[in-house]
Amino acid sequence: MNKSLRKAIIAGNWKMNKTRPEAKELLEAIKPLVADAKDVEVIACVPFTNLETAVNVTAGSNVKIGAENVHFEKSGAFTGEISADMLTELGVEYVVIGHSERRQYFGETDETVNKRTKAALAAGLKPIVCVGELLWERECDITEEVIARQIKLDFFGVSAEDIKKSVIAYEPVWAIGTGKTATADQAQEVCAFIRATLAKLYDQATADAVTIQYGGSMNAGNAAELLSKPDVDGGLIGGASLKANDFSVIVHAAVNG
Ligand code: PGA
Repeated sequence: MNKSLRKAIIAGNWKMNKTRPEAKELLEAIKPLVADAKDVEVIACVPFTNLETAVNVTAGSNVKIGAENVHFEKSGAFTGEISADMLTELGVEYVVIGHSERRQYFGETDETVNKRTKAALAAGLKPIVCVGELLWERECDITEEVIARQIKLDFFGVSAEDIKKSVIAYEPVWAIGTGKTATADQAQEVCAFIRATLAKLYDQATADAVTIQYGGSMNAGNAAELLSKPDVDGGLIGGASLKANDFSVIVHAAVNG
């Protein structure tokens, strides 16, 4: 309905995969396949070690590069962490924040997601903030409570102007890497709920301007149906983003979606 108000965004989330030569090979394969997809923002979010290679390989193409995390402090004694300024200096434009794997395995909380989101925005990076319920939470019928809480906490103190620069990825935790995709109707229901929550927190025009992605076992076979839904504006793609042809099929599904 209001899809023309926002950009379709397909982002690959490579997770902990690919050495530099492998990253170069995959991006070289992706570039020509998606070159015609002008109306879709195509992003590859890659491991920190691949960022410089990825920015160089994609220079002059329509593929943008994102990181998979960012620390919230500007600099200092945070061994092993990477700041937003370090990313922007490299030419990185996007960053995934609060992925469920970070929440599950690395102690990420809504408070740290909020801090990272604000730090990213302050540095000029566009955050892709991930929210989603556990299987147990869906079974207990509290999906909407969980999602509303995450949206409120993760974007606490973020201005309307800044939230329009943000992307929200709805990723039901039970669908990530499991081969279990949410049905297109389930994805639509929660993405619409996220937009309604944004409309309450901000206003309808702001909510209508925010790109909301679905993620969780999205692939070449199911992308078109998911992306045809009115509030599913794009996808955050794990496994299928490591295969150039499959990723390209998903990007083209977004052109038509
Ligand atoms: P998947 O991962 O597509 O492999 O399920 C999605 C994600 O984790 O972003």
